[in-house]
Amino acid sequence: MSIAIAFALMLTVFHATSATEDPLDVFDNANSIEELLPPHEFVHKETWGGKLPSHVQNLQHPLDLVIIAHTATSVCTTLTECSKLVKAIQNYHFRLKKSDIGYNFLIGGDGNIYEGRGWDAANSVKDKSISVSFIGNFLYDHLTENMVDALQELLIEGVELGKLKEDYKIVCHNQTIATLSPGQNVYDVVKTWKHFNPERLR
Ligand SMILES: *[C@@H]1O[C@H](CO)[C@@H](O)[C@H](O)[C@H]1NC(C)=O
Repeated sequence: MSIAIAFALMLTVFHATSATEDPLDVFDNANSIEELLPPHEFVHKETWGGKLPSHVQNLQHPLDLVIIAHTATSVCTTLTECSKLVKAIQNYHFRLKKSDIGYNFLIGGDGNIYEGRGWDAANSVKDKSISVSFIGNFLYDHLTENMVDALQELLIEGVELGKLKEDYKIVCHNQTIATLSPGQNVYDVVKTWKHFNPERLR
């Protein structure tokens, strides 16, 4: 709960700070309209151009497991770039005979949260879990602060919405199957969190 409060305070401070800026100055300094978006925009499937799933298996809430993966793609830093990547990942997963993009959510280098299967549909990673995938290849790439913030905001919201248990556990993808995902550079961040569970689940 204290994290939630700290986060809410941070957001308040951010909004207060940004509100004092001259909007015209902000516009002049932005390279595109996208840079004017607030941090951690939630990007619905329709917005990134996602297709409907071929099949949906409903989850029962609240869940106690969150799995962190990476997409093993390039990184992206704008809504346009990330949307294109997320679309390509969904198409790739359809070709692998999955019913939809494999993850419940994805997080871009733009700090936005991309809706995959959402909170209510089972993912292709593991039963009874929510999977979140960072866009990039974190064997080499590094998480930025806005990506980490976005994940924390999402998980706080998950608890508030009753989708996650208050004492949910986080594991990395490679703790559930043999894979390099999510990469050392994500693992090193996630392993320091209080919800992290160091055990293997395979
Ligand atoms: C998962 O990956 C991290 C980072 O490479 C590694 O330190 C950890 O031992 C791996 N865990 C398992 C269970 O393979």
